[in-house]
Amino acid sequence: MKQVKHISRLFLSFFLLVAFHTSRSQRKTIDQKVDSVLHLMTLEEKVGQMNQYNGDWDATGPITKDGDKQSQIRSGMVGSMLNVTGVDHTRTLQEIAMQSRMKIPLLFGQDIIHGYRTIFPVPLAEAASWDLDAIQLSARIAATEASAAGVHWTFAPMVDIARDPRWGRVMEGAGEDPYLGSLIARARVKGFQGNGLGNTDALMACAKHFAAYGAAVGGRDYNSVDMSLRQLHEIYLAPFKAAAEAGAATFMNSFNDLNGIPATGNKYLQRDILKGAWKFKGFVVSDWGSVGEMIQHGFVKDNYEAALVAANAGSDMDMESRSYIQNLAKLVKEGKVKMEVVDEAVRRILRKKFELGLFDDPFRFCNKERERQQWNNPEHLRMEREIAKKSIVLLKNNGILPIRKQSAKGSEPRNIAVIGPFAKAKSDNLGFWSYDWPDDSTRIVSVWEGMQKKIGADTRLLYARGCNINDTSHAGFTEAVAVAKNADLIIMTAGEARDMSGEAKSRSNIHLPGVQEELIKAVYATGKPMIVLVSAGRPLIFNWTADNVPAILYTWWLGTEAGDAIADVLFGDYNPSGKLPISFPRTEGQIPIYYDHFNTGRPATSDSDRFYRSAYLDLSIYPKYEFGYGLSYTTFQYSDLRLSKKKIKDTEKIDVTMKLTNTGKYEGEEVVQLYLRDKVGSVVRPVKELKDFQKIKLQPGEAKAIHFIIDKQKLSFYNDKLQWIAEPGEFDLMIGASSEDIRLKDSFELVK
Ligand code: GLC
Repeated sequence: MKQVKHISRLFLSFFLLVAFHTSRSQRKTIDQKVDSVLHLMTLEEKVGQMNQYNGDWDATGPITKDGDKQSQIRSGMVGSMLNVTGVDHTRTLQEIAMQSRMKIPLLFGQDIIHGYRTIFPVPLAEAASWDLDAIQLSARIAATEASAAGVHWTFAPMVDIARDPRWGRVMEGAGEDPYLGSLIARARVKGFQGNGLGNTDALMACAKHFAAYGAAVGGRDYNSVDMSLRQLHEIYLAPFKAAAEAGAATFMNSFNDLNGIPATGNKYLQRDILKGAWKFKGFVVSDWGSVGEMIQHGFVKDNYEAALVAANAGSDMDMESRSYIQNLAKLVKEGKVKMEVVDEAVRRILRKKFELGLFDDPFRFCNKERERQQWNNPEHLRMEREIAKKSIVLLKNNGILPIRKQSAKGSEPRNIAVIGPFAKAKSDNLGFWSYDWPDDSTRIVSVWEGMQKKIGADTRLLYARGCNINDTSHAGFTEAVAVAKNADLIIMTAGEARDMSGEAKSRSNIHLPGVQEELIKAVYATGKPMIVLVSAGRPLIFNWTADNVPAILYTWWLGTEAGDAIADVLFGDYNPSGKLPISFPRTEGQIPIYYDHFNTGRPATSDSDRFYRSAYLDLSIYPKYEFGYGLSYTTFQYSDLRLSKKKIKDTEKIDVTMKLTNTGKYEGEEVVQLYLRDKVGSVVRPVKELKDFQKIKLQPGEAKAIHFIIDKQKLSFYNDKLQWIAEPGEFDLMIGASSEDIRLKDSFELVK
């Protein structure tokens, strides 16, 4: 027997040795190929690889009307195009690239943020599902559809931590928390890149916007950012580090200046941290025009200097500013930028083109049959409806939900009125960063259509628009009230239009737009039972509605299958399980408000305790809805908290167990959240930090033991020397249904 073991061990080690050398030799092969191409290129052709133009079919930034891009592609002056989709368009330009001297294939990049043909819930909505597998699958489907349309590279995931809902791009990220944001960043990178860049259903991911773009002063897009390096590393860089560790192929730098230095020209970010400490091997693309925008920043005097600063700072590709293509060769010839800087950038870009297999076959993503197959994939629609349901957050329910079906006990309401500007909305369910297709009017499911498919034969749907999304007209109120009076139940639809959140959509007023809340009040006055649906890409403020109506569902922007997903929840075919990934403020004056704040020397601990405290005299200390909040049609009991140890060294772990029981009458999923508080630190520590969570499905009456592990990583933070350390001392452990709704507590000590 011993003999056999010895032989198998020998075989295994030989196999591992061969595998190691094979992968090394493959990697070495790509690097050798890159160098062999690089050595044949002229300086101008190298700079061409660092140049990215927008296609002439669409634009996602201020466009520059200038020369003939196709002739520039033909002369090898373009490395990548964005906003070019569809096999025909990409093939056309790739064929032109193959006429260039070096025949280096183009990269086609696109904002595939939450879907391409099938539009998924906006990322902030998906974050509310806390379902990492579903989020990864959403990105995987988006990649499958977009790569079939000739796209190689998505400018996603956007991983900017955001704590100011006045900032329109909060819809594009994963909310306020670095732990949840890091896990979601990793899931999205894995989803987009799938089984690796050599597969034709993979999209290169692009972690953006590097860095701290979400911390713009006043929530005003493109505005300045200023923060300690400690906060930068602990909060804002965390999801980027996770994306890099997950193998993100590219990064995109951001428009903002950070501590006085524009991110595009920020050597600390791009070379010291990303390419240095994190050993990132991909390439960095600038955001639209951000190289040239350093002139407006007052950081450089012209495009010549912008190109010098950006290239030396580690910005490898220039999106749309033309600073590189117009100046970089000259800068190298003048010795202002070393050839090594250009070579390193071009190596990074060429390496990705080799990994994508584009040198073997520049047209491998231009497959008409695959494009046709992925154009109407019913499975994609089914999966979109699944994650859309999981993203809905039940904010309030006095028992009116779920709507009883005719078949169930208690009769279904005979007349249901669906009122408001979103009742029959179609594209407004898609949100920002989505695409318009000719068949959207039939393909997108409205709330009205979702309800029609659900109601029984004896139920009638009534409709009134009541008002527009964002104007002051009350002309529709009379009709809406009259329709409500004829109904047994009101479904009020409210929210913001698809272009009211997103890039360059910062707003100082994030109340329900227009006269929508007045409409809700007018219809509510009829005394009929009412459920309010709020569709938005960001937290909105609707305090009267929140305080008065019996039930509210936050339905975000849920994508192509929105109406079906909402109807599934309204009628109880799915028990809502979403939890808010971002705090909802009571007023704009309460912003920024987030759960993992410091205690201060005079903490406000209750609404009565406001004097001489870090609180407003005229406002509650709490957000309207806190991070991690979300209700269910059932109830859950948290019990039996046990820690395997009460004292650990930093090499040890604590097994945390608790029991979760479904004490209600519906099957449901609960996001059990684990928070820690480091009671005393060499720098002050937050009153709590999310350190783990599990989403658990239980049948009525079912109980389950839930396990968490506390290790050194979960106790660590950046000290004032930017060392990632865990300090001895006492920790509070809190387990709850939200960051405020703490159900179980204990404490433990980390000892030397
Ligand atoms: C935009 C956005 C960025 C996007 C890029 C290309 O300005 O800031 O997120 O990927 O330009 O569309």
